[in-house]
Amino acid sequence: MTRDSGSDVVVVGGGIIGCAIAYYLARMGAGVTIVEQGEIGCESTGASAGMLVPLTEAHCPGPFLDLALASLRMFPELANSLAEESGIDVGYRPTGSLRLALNEDEERALRRSLGWQGLTGLALHWLSGTEVMDLEPQLTVRVSAAILTEGEHQVEPRRLIQGLGVAIRRMGVALHSRVTVRGFHTRDDWVRGVITSDGDVSCRYLVLAAGAWSGRLSRRLGVNLPVRPVRGQMISMSCHDPAINHLVFGVGGYLLPKADGTVWTGATMEDVGFRSRTTKKGVAWLRRLSGTLVPPLKSGQIVGEWAGLRPGTPDGLPVLGSVPGWANVSVATGHFRSGVLLAPVTGMLMAEQVLQGRCDQLEPFSISRFGK
Ligand code: GLY
Repeated sequence: MTRDSGSDVVVVGGGIIGCAIAYYLARMGAGVTIVEQGEIGCESTGASAGMLVPLTEAHCPGPFLDLALASLRMFPELANSLAEESGIDVGYRPTGSLRLALNEDEERALRRSLGWQGLTGLALHWLSGTEVMDLEPQLTVRVSAAILTEGEHQVEPRRLIQGLGVAIRRMGVALHSRVTVRGFHTRDDWVRGVITSDGDVSCRYLVLAAGAWSGRLSRRLGVNLPVRPVRGQMISMSCHDPAINHLVFGVGGYLLPKADGTVWTGATMEDVGFRSRTTKKGVAWLRRLSGTLVPPLKSGQIVGEWAGLRPGTPDGLPVLGSVPGWANVSVATGHFRSGVLLAPVTGMLMAEQVLQGRCDQLEPFSISRFGK
């Protein structure tokens, strides 16, 4: 059965990356079909925290930082457009972030990072322990210093994917959910269609954006894409008073204040294959982390726990752009801890690459870096 022969581009994967690519492709006038094995955003996107924190995730200057900063700058416009196009407020909140040092070693490392981070254009402030306590009185008194970054914010990932989903449907994107990919119809170096559990979908161009599942998928085209799942567990806690107002990073984790008054704490980093459940050990670690950074949370109640599978790569960078050996296939995956942050820039640049043939900004993230 041929389900749909009208699409210019088929995107496999309906997470935040696949939906963002479909969104920008549709904005540029392309006909798009998304094929998703579950519901849109039901995997990594639905489990993510929604932090927009380039400085925390980049660790050093370079192409990843540049990409992340470019994406951060796109959020206000995207949030406004999605509000108009979908009627959904995606919860973009200028929260600001605090990266804490709890001992002298951490303070030295934090101070060193000021050098390159100061060149990014984001407003940074070095705070003493006392200044941190004035700003966030509920934090542990063990804080010796912190960097306050005014421009690092957050969004509600579940509302963002919902907004994208409504907007792309209204723009005419066909969304096939609960459909698995069984293979591809090919001729020479062209993929002509996707064989799914619900029939065939023909395509002029194919984009693989299936997150942690992208490695399995690309093997069906004989392509080696070293993407592996990295589980992240999270909890949300209720508390009587506002516990914190900023995104807080320390002792290997992070806390986010959410608009409903809960605090979310994340996240584990686990190499456990495709098992996406929470564990007692993971939840206990997150509870300890919450209480260490914000002592009043020691008596807080856990009101939610969940886990997701980040798409990890050997060098921690995303894989973006055309796939060598195939004339009409591109990939967009490996966003690891930054799928939500990188979604707008990935969507826009991938749409340009698919429709215009190349995009220089994607070169550092080429699949070619892994060899044949
Ligand atoms: N974005 C943070 C994480 O993946 O844990």
